[in-house]
Amino acid sequence: MKILVINGPNLNLLGVREPDIYGKQDFAALERFIKDACADCGADCELYQSNHEGAIVDKIQSALGVFDGIVINPAAYTHTSVAILDALKAVALPAVEVHLSDVNAREAFRHVSYAGMACVKTFAGHGFEGYKMAVEFLKNYIGG
Ligand code: DQA
Repeated sequence: MKILVINGPNLNLLGVREPDIYGKQDFAALERFIKDACADCGADCELYQSNHEGAIVDKIQSALGVFDGIVINPAAYTHTSVAILDALKAVALPAVEVHLSDVNAREAFRHVSYAGMACVKTFAGHGFEGYKMAVEFLKNYIGG
């Protein structure tokens, strides 16, 4: 099973960025955590982070025929990007949405998720652990 894990804008600033919301661990720690979670599940993974909406769209498109599923934290683009929603729908790979924070307990604008409309499941508010939950869910969902 090959999983593409996509992290969106500003997640590269984890540890520095609003640590009361996103925690004190940095992005390198998150990437190590995700790699370990995938290894524990017996999944191959590629990690991708970008601050650019179009680059994320390109990456999703390139997953077609290469990956079995996608784990995505689109960060702020969650709440704005029809382009990312359409890309996920276009490739039609099983996708799971992750948010470190509990977006539904925050500002009203964070309650809308466009990307989530193309995802089979969302994990929000579980910190790093949410990525592990997403990888495990995807493994069971795909049956690999
Ligand atoms: C986030 C939540 C988003 O609302 C926010 O814009 C982010 C991070 C999260 O992981 O909790 O950048 O996706």
